[in-house]
Parts: sequence; structure tokens; C-alpha cells
Amino acid sequence: MGLDGASILIVGGGSGIGFAVAEAARAEGAAVTIASTNKDKLVGAAERLDGAKWAVLDITDEKAVEAFFHSSGDFDHVVTTAGDWGSARRGPFVSIDMSEADALFQVRFWGAAILAKHAAWHLDDGGSITLTSGMSAFCPQKGSVMATAMAGSIEHLTYGLAVELAPIRVNAVFPGGVATEIFAGLPEEMRKTEEARFASQPLPRISRPEEVAQAYLYAMKATYTTGQVIKVDGGGELAG
Ligand SMILES: NC(=O)c1ccc[n+]([C@@H]2O[C@H](COP(=O)([O-])OP(=O)(O)OC[C@H]3O[C@@H](n4cnc5c(N)ncnc54)[C@H](OP(=O)(O)O)[C@@H]3O)[C@@H](O)[C@H]2O)c1
Repeated sequence: MGLDGASILIVGGGSGIGFAVAEAARAEGAAVTIASTNKDKLVGAAERLDGAKWAVLDITDEKAVEAFFHSSGDFDHVVTTAGDWGSARRGPFVSIDMSEADALFQVRFWGAAILAKHAAWHLDDGGSITLTSGMSAFCPQKGSVMATAMAGSIEHLTYGLAVELAPIRVNAVFPGGVATEIFAGLPEEMRKTEEARFASQPLPRISRPEEVAQAYLYAMKATYTTGQVIKVDGGGELAG
């Protein structure tokens, strides 16, 4: 089943991986709605997507998510790449501020759970929800305890939802390093450390967003795939 004519909501579609998913889905003939919190970003992205709809939506706000789905109508597929980059991502665990660590889960874990809960009422059988995990779930680095736990929690949310919501399909994409705007904006030292890490992978480079986007398209189109975490990490997990 292709995406031509399919109606797809992409939360996080105003930038980075989500934008690449929106672009690839549009190229296959899908009707795309992008959503996130920053209106200016969405308007600019929708223009570049040539005809995408946009909606301001904070997925940590359950009432807003419920109201959004009531007014938007149904979708064939829902994707989220929404994430913030909280300050508790890196640092010694023994010195961590637990309220910041808690905040790290708000968008990527709780936001995804809220989105899935309300999306489920607006998807047909065989429709899909695709969440976003990350390499830190399996390749913890020193100083990344809570980022590892958070990425892992998304994968287990995926497994639970796939059973709970079937025959709606629920999968997650596990990106390795992706050269999105956010990566380009990292402090130089951190970016170089990350680049050195990717250089030791079987595919020794960071990925392009459009390479990762293909996994989301697969998750939407693959009618016998559910409860899966699709890894697009250049073999990075194997390199440790
Ligand atoms: N880039 C990588 O190397 C990499 C690797 C592994 C995993 N990931 C994960 O993949 C996801 C996407 O990464 P990216 O590089 O594409 O980052 P990005 O460009 O910052 O995309 C994240 C998007 O989430 C939206 N967002 C943030 N808070 C939101 C909220 N409360 N409700 C709705 N939307 C919200 C942002 O838009 P607004 O500002 O408009 O809200 C933004 O468009 C993130 O979860 C990230 O952790 C990225």
C-alpha cells in the first residue's frame, strides 16, 4: 500500500527529521499536515513543502491534542519526531538535577503517549503511529543516563501500544546521528566528539535526514509490521 492520497500528520515536521519525512511523503503523493509549537517555523516549512497544512500543537498539552484531533478529522498515519533538547541530556548522573531529568521525558515520552492516545480514535484499522527513539537507548555514553532511559522508554511504549491498539500498527524509528539543524548548532567541541564517534561506525559518517525519513515511510507502508523499532544508525549500535 503506497502513500498516494494518504493523509498524514507529522508532529515535528517543521524541521529536521520530521521535515524530511514530510518532504518524502509529499513526493509520494500524500496529503501532509505538519504540527509543532512554533508557528513561524511551521509556516516557513509548509511553504517549502508546497501545499502542506500546518497546525500549532504542543503534544505535552493533552487538552490541546484532544481538541486538535476533534477539529482535524481522521488521518491514515501519525508520526512524531517531536523532541526538545533539555539540559539534563549530558552530565554526571550523581550531580543531576532530577527536576530537569523529569523534564527530559515531557515531550518525547509523555508527548508521544498523549499523541498516541488521541490519535488512536482518529486512525482506521491498518493505520499507523510511528514514534522516534534514538541510538542512546542501546549505546549509552558516560553522562547520558537519563537520555538513555528516556530513549529506551519510547521503545517500550511502542511495544505496549502495538499490542494495545492493534490492528492500528505502532512502530518506532531509531535514528543514529542525523545531520539536522540541531546537530549543526551544537557547540563545536561536542559536535567534533560526536563526529569522531560516527567515524568509527561500519558506515563511518553521520546520516542525512532524508536517509532516516525512508524508515518512517516504510513504517507507514508496511502493512504487516507492528511493534518494531527500525534502526537507521549506520551500524552504530554494533560499534558500541
Ligand atoms: N538529530 C539526531 O542526530 C537525532 C538522533 C537520534 C534521535 N533524534 C531524535 O529525533 C527527533 C527529531 O530530531 P531532529 O534532529 O529532527 O530535531 P528538531 O529539528 O529539533 O525537531 C524536533 C521538532 O520537535 C518539535 N517540538 C518540540 N517540542 C514540541 C512539543 N512540545 N510539541 C510538538 N512539537 C514539538 C520542534 O518544533 P517547534 O520548535 O516548532 O515546537 C521541532 O520541529 C528528536 O526527538 C531527537 O531527540 C535525533
